[in-house]
Amino acid sequence: MSPTHRQVLAPDPAALRTVLGHFATGVAIITALDGDEPVGMACNSFTSVSLDPPLVLFCAAKDSTTWPRIQAARKWAANILSEESEEVCRLFAQKGADRFAHIAYSTGRTGAPVLEASIAFVDCETIAEHDAGDHVIVVGRVLELGYASDGKPLLFYRGGYGRFDV
Ligand SMILES: Cc1cc2nc3c(=O)[nH]c(=O)nc-3n(C[C@H](O)[C@H](O)[C@H](O)COP(=O)(O)O)c2cc1C
Repeated sequence: MSPTHRQVLAPDPAALRTVLGHFATGVAIITALDGDEPVGMACNSFTSVSLDPPLVLFCAAKDSTTWPRIQAARKWAANILSEESEEVCRLFAQKGADRFAHIAYSTGRTGAPVLEASIAFVDCETIAEHDAGDHVIVVGRVLELGYASDGKPLLFYRGGYGRFDV
């Protein structure tokens, strides 16, 4: 692409959403148990960090009402959604929804919910939280992980959902 076709913007929130939305990601539902109540939130900030020791991270918005519950639990699972799971993603991003009412899951080593809608899961324990603007960077040590070899991921790109065409 020619540089003349590029939009150059100041880093205000709208520009950040638009430009960073070009970075295609999967979607993970970060789940935990608050007492005996399952909680979870959709996150596309989930990423790998270190192989040895095994570390991953996600970024939690400070205004999330689910994050304090995951924070208190300290144990959580990142559930990487399958391509059929767009509605699950929307549900886990919706404020005030009864997110687990119709969701099938089992539990991983930490007790965190492992969703049937996931093609892979990473079960973790929080080892660090780093303050970062309006978010917190949450670093987890991986305790157990698994995947379905025939699974295909849900993709998120420029505010919309898609599939990986292979
Ligand atoms: C595709 C997608 C990705 C998201 N990624 C994140 C994320 O990385 N971190 C975050 O805090 N919220 C993220 N959200 C928003 C939360 O899912 C949602 O706002 C939050 O769970 C609202 O409910 P709560 O107040 O119950 O936490 C994402 C939403 C969507 C639809």
